[in-house]
Amino acid sequence: MAVQVKATLLSNRRVGSYHHLVLSGAGFASGVRPGHFAAIAVGGDNTPMVLRRAFSIHRATEMTAKGSVVELVVSAHGPGTQWLVAQPVGAILDVVAPLGRPFALPRDPVNCLLVAGGYGSAPMAYLAEELIARGCQVDMIFGASTESKLFDTLECKRLARYFEITTDDGSIGTKGRVSDVMPEMMKRAETAVVYACGPMPMLQAVAKVSAQLGAISQTAVEESMACGIGVCMTCVLPVIGDDGVTRMVRSCVDGPVFRGDRVRWDAVGTVPSDAYGAPQSGGH
Ligand SMILES: Cc1cc2nc3c(=O)[nH]c(=O)nc-3n(C[C@H](O)[C@H](O)[C@H](O)COP(=O)(O)OP(=O)(O)OC[C@H]3O[C@@H](n4cnc5c(N)ncnc54)[C@H](O)[C@@H]3O)c2cc1C
Ligand code: FES
Repeated sequence: MAVQVKATLLSNRRVGSYHHLVLSGAGFASGVRPGHFAAIAVGGDNTPMVLRRAFSIHRATEMTAKGSVVELVVSAHGPGTQWLVAQPVGAILDVVAPLGRPFALPRDPVNCLLVAGGYGSAPMAYLAEELIARGCQVDMIFGASTESKLFDTLECKRLARYFEITTDDGSIGTKGRVSDVMPEMMKRAETAVVYACGPMPMLQAVAKVSAQLGAISQTAVEESMACGIGVCMTCVLPVIGDDGVTRMVRSCVDGPVFRGDRVRWDAVGTVPSDAYGAPQSGGH
């Protein structure tokens, strides 16, 4: 159950290209699972930035009824995130968390590959720990445009059996994309389930490679959001249901995690004409 809290910024530390924020508040770490996100109001009082900004929860620690800690990894992208990373320790932030549907964890121990792009690695150490606790074997591939845009590699290297890095510019690891090294890794690791978080084109490629190699993929999508709580329909994308019918579903409440083979990646940003309820041309 999401709660809205006034959280105190305990720490704001630069890590490579990102900022690692530690927030303390009451009850917002309760029930957090890997894949949940937090939505933060930005800009302070009387701001024109009325929409909250969404961030994957990196870590959550429930301490007492009054004190719990949530950690985020923020890339200063536009005005909202630039405001957020400029906040001093002690700042009070308006946070709603936990939101969304987290990654589904397997019932039986299986070989899992965790694939992340850029700050998409934020939830991966937490996810790896949960999978390892269930007896799963965990392997990882982290990719980014350049070395400074990788996050949490040391911690995740410690958790993974096989760990690989790719960068677009070759500054570290293999030069190229995560999807380039996936087939070899998946064969070596005998991967059954792929978990992915990162930019949409990366998720599309990861879903494709996973399907080609017979693995299930779970992808945490990053659609633009407005309300973050299922009311405004800003974040919809076409997803195929169990009945084979495509529906426009809300990534903030029905996701952000979806099965990769169910997302109509080529049609994201549109309403496919065969989607349930889509406007029909020539209709009355
Ligand atoms: C589920 C989810 C998890 C995310 N996790 C992280 C994370 O861990 N770390 C991180 O740095 N960023 C994360 N993002 C992206 C982050 O929300 C955007 O970078 C941020 O909202 C941009 O706001 P801005 O004011 O800086 O930029 P602007 O481009 O000025 O934003 C304007 C508006 O567009 C929306 N928007 C713009 N870019 C995005 C985007 N990429 N995704 C969603 N909405 C966007 C914003 O909500 C805002 O309302 C996540 C997004 C989603 C949906
Ligand atoms: S962001 Fe409003 S419904 Fe998802």
